[in-house]
Amino acid sequence: MKIFAIESSCDETAAAVVETKGGRFNILANTIVSQIDIHRQYGGVVPEVAARHHIQNIIPVLEQTLDQAKLTPNKLDRLAVTVGPGLITSLIVGIETAKTLSYVWKKPIVPVNHMKAHLYANWSHNQKINFPAITLIVSGGHTEIILQTSPTHLKKIGATIDDAAGEAFDKVAQLLGLGYPGGPAISKLAKTGSRNAYPFPRPMLKENNFNFSFSGLKTAVLYTTQKIKKITPAVTADIAASFEQAAVDILVEKTIRAAQTHHAKTIMLSGGVAANGLLRQTLATKAKNLKIKFLTPDIHLCTDNAAMIAIAAAFDKPSPWHTLKVNPNLDI
Ligand code: KG4
Ligand code: ZN
Repeated sequence: MKIFAIESSCDETAAAVVETKGGRFNILANTIVSQIDIHRQYGGVVPEVAARHHIQNIIPVLEQTLDQAKLTPNKLDRLAVTVGPGLITSLIVGIETAKTLSYVWKKPIVPVNHMKAHLYANWSHNQKINFPAITLIVSGGHTEIILQTSPTHLKKIGATIDDAAGEAFDKVAQLLGLGYPGGPAISKLAKTGSRNAYPFPRPMLKENNFNFSFSGLKTAVLYTTQKIKKITPAVTADIAASFEQAAVDILVEKTIRAAQTHHAKTIMLSGGVAANGLLRQTLATKAKNLKIKFLTPDIHLCTDNAAMIAIAAAFDKPSPWHTLKVNPNLDI
């Protein structure tokens, strides 16, 4: 089965073709047009501006994806599109385009939950996934721990009670004058700093649940910067490194605790923040010590892309095109 997917929930206009055969996935094309350079000047994504650029980009992205896959629409079996969560005006561009294609090409269409798709990006490795499985999904808007007892049985067992992990990286980067998006900038700078320079708090670690809180950590960074008289590049690197270590400690500790509590046979990591090297390495090492299989998508499949939307669509049923509705607050 060949699935053609569209993703436009935030500031990336993306399309992909994935072939699935006997439970294996083969990415035939994966196109992403990022608007990062446009939104950088505003210090974050401006929804109205993002939607306008999606409108400009979407048709060229679709054409490029079909060209790259060397396919004509009649060779496709299914369409898939992100219906939420995300920015409503950005989502609508992808959804209306996909609905039109479904009608014109006479292809069934699967509405896809963006967060579930981040989780299913782990299936891109075509490795056997044993259950129960615990997945940490960390993105710009979400931080969630999912318990999976089968490929399609997902239960959210923990989430952030305030800021998402990616949001914390972005806000701390802004505070330190590192620009947008913050995650990659912080992790690059952190490599040159000391991880023990500032004892930032690890909120909620002592609480016996799988929830997270990042707003206190962000505020601690703010107060620290306000107290320092001269913020030299070396000081900024130390703050970045100490913040990254605190954020990773919180994420890893809660994920491992969830895995042990639920006797997980697999631990997975996904979402944009899963591109973070320290988080990938630390979770991989902890899982290995516990002899639990660890998976995380290749970095280009951690941040937003449409290949993960196509993979997720293989686990769900199509709906009539006219029933597809945008849902900016869609939950797992
Ligand atoms: O999943 P994603 O691409 O978009 C959403 O669905 O939100 O995640 C974007 C988030 C941003 O907050 C960005 O700063 C963060 O992922 N991110 C990182 C890294 N690369 C991207 N955070 C930490 N370290 C990174 N290397
Ligand atoms: Zn995402």
